Amino acid sequence: MSQTSKRTVRSHTCGELRALQLGDEVTLCGWVAKRRDHGGVIFADLRDRYGLTQIVFDPQLTEGETAHVNAGRIRSEYVLWVKGRVRKRPEGMTNSKLLTGEIEVACTDIVILSEAKTIPFPIDDEIDVAETVRLKYRYLDLRRTPLQQNLMTRHRMLSIARNHLDQNQFIEVETPILYKSTPEGARDFIVPSRLSQGSFYALPQSPQTLKQLLMISGLDRYYQVARCFRDEDLRADRQPEFSQIDVEFSFLDEEAFFPIVESMMAKLWKEIMGVEVSLPFPRMPYSEAMSRFGSDKPDVRFGLELQDLSALFAKSTFQVFQGALGAEAQGRGSVRGIKVEGLAEKFSRKDLDDLQSHAAGYGAKGMLWIKVQPTGELQSPAAKFFSEEEKQGLAKTFGLKPGDLVLIIADRRNKVVFDALGAIRLWVGNRLGMIPKPGEGKPAFLWVVNFPLMEYDEKEKRYFACHHPFTSPRPEFFEDFIQGKNLDKIEASAYDMVLNGVEIGGGSLRIYRPDVQAAMFKLLGLTPEEAKEKFGFFLEALQYGTPPHGGIAFGVDRLAAILCGVGPIRDVMAFPKTQKGTCLMSESPSEVSRDQLLELGIAVLAPPSKE
Ligand code: AMO
Repeated sequence: MSQTSKRTVRSHTCGELRALQLGDEVTLCGWVAKRRDHGGVIFADLRDRYGLTQIVFDPQLTEGETAHVNAGRIRSEYVLWVKGRVRKRPEGMTNSKLLTGEIEVACTDIVILSEAKTIPFPIDDEIDVAETVRLKYRYLDLRRTPLQQNLMTRHRMLSIARNHLDQNQFIEVETPILYKSTPEGARDFIVPSRLSQGSFYALPQSPQTLKQLLMISGLDRYYQVARCFRDEDLRADRQPEFSQIDVEFSFLDEEAFFPIVESMMAKLWKEIMGVEVSLPFPRMPYSEAMSRFGSDKPDVRFGLELQDLSALFAKSTFQVFQGALGAEAQGRGSVRGIKVEGLAEKFSRKDLDDLQSHAAGYGAKGMLWIKVQPTGELQSPAAKFFSEEEKQGLAKTFGLKPGDLVLIIADRRNKVVFDALGAIRLWVGNRLGMIPKPGEGKPAFLWVVNFPLMEYDEKEKRYFACHHPFTSPRPEFFEDFIQGKNLDKIEASAYDMVLNGVEIGGGSLRIYRPDVQAAMFKLLGLTPEEAKEKFGFFLEALQYGTPPHGGIAFGVDRLAAILCGVGPIRDVMAFPKTQKGTCLMSESPSEVSRDQLLELGIAVLAPPSKE
């Protein structure tokens, strides 16, 4: 090996040296984090993934002219190889915050392995830099300790999960990315085929059909850390490309399966956070989650629960309430509210207006507020419409006292009432500091169970599967389902795992009878031809001996974000996309050449705008 190549190799990492190694000759490699020149003696912090070590270049110690000159040339983010002896830092110069804070390396030799341009932002734990800049230079952003720690926690999480599933006889099987449309309710990303022009692959929204096929193959217990692709509107907890811990099993029901994944969560919390999670997780029926919290992913760490006021206002003279409860609502509407105890004066007119617009974002036409005056009287834009009996009923339902605030949503669609009031509950909870910040407090796990199987869409005038069309009705609803009766009331063998108000996983027991699956496609409005075209292979497979099976998928990014105590899932992804689905670093998506399009037999209709 040549001399130069040896001078790229280290004996220790930058997080490793302690007083134990005093006097040892060591070699280190890393990035220059900070550099200070104290009258010819140069100090620098050398950084790598493992930590920081202070290195010192004293002209009297450095070997030869070149080393001395090189030491003078070093700048931030240069990559160095250094050789030197470990020595104690002078009295008063130790840094108890650093694991290597007692020592420094007095360098005798140095090689500048790489120089660095002036970096666009400092590599500090806390930086005040626009996220667009951070994403453009993501590889520099990822040099920062908090992001490196997030990626390491994510790695540990996946390795604990993999071990756990392995110990429970689940085997990891990879499934294709170039595939066919899978029904998870989002738009597909499609990939044109060169060899079959005019035909397209779809990237999987999840490996749903594939994992079920693996059960038909007899694999019995499958898992995969799977990449999923969904072309949908992005939010802080949604990316177009994300990962799942995807699981499928045969011959188990919820009672046998839940403990396997609950104990996986307990292990993750114990090993990563040092927190004991109590088992089993509570289960809450969907209907209760909606009526108490206005959400199918309830954050149960704080109160502000919803109250149903529909019976109380059944005879109301207030037009808004009449609209929600009257004949034209066909029993699908309601009036519900939450009470903010004793804090009415904290909500200014502007706050209430803001809340109103927040509720409007969920389809609500308005939000009614009521403040209880010191006299006990109710102040509200609608107060004059309340009868004495209604006022007393309100006071009794909420246990009202002076200073309380009540926020009410009425709509002829229950979904709007729940969505809007659920969102108001979170807004108020946040505003009043009732919700623990990411990384704080005890984890609140629960299962939401007994979801509706199907939901009627008024616009499209047809039913949609609430989960996906392979989800089985609960056994007691089988007859109705086969006969296509009482569809609104049918419950699914579906379950979501919810943590701190975040849906971290969702799954179900599956339909395993071909006739039931065909009935499902029919109820969802698919003609036999459409069903055949989309899922013919799957319907056929069901006919060759299908075991009763089920599964779940956990959102890796969401879980990692909670374990890392961060908000947006971008912070636990190495190369995330922006809200617009673009990668600022590689500038993708981008145009392709005319030749590439020709080869694929594709013409772009609208010329791309050159803004
Ligand atoms: P589901 O669609 O509920 O179920 O997805 C499972 C979990 O994946 C996470 N998730 C996301 N994370 C980041 N960005 C997204 N765009 C995104 N979409 C979903 C959530 C969610 O709970 N095939 C079924 C599972 C099954 O039935 O076994 C499925 O994909 O944490």
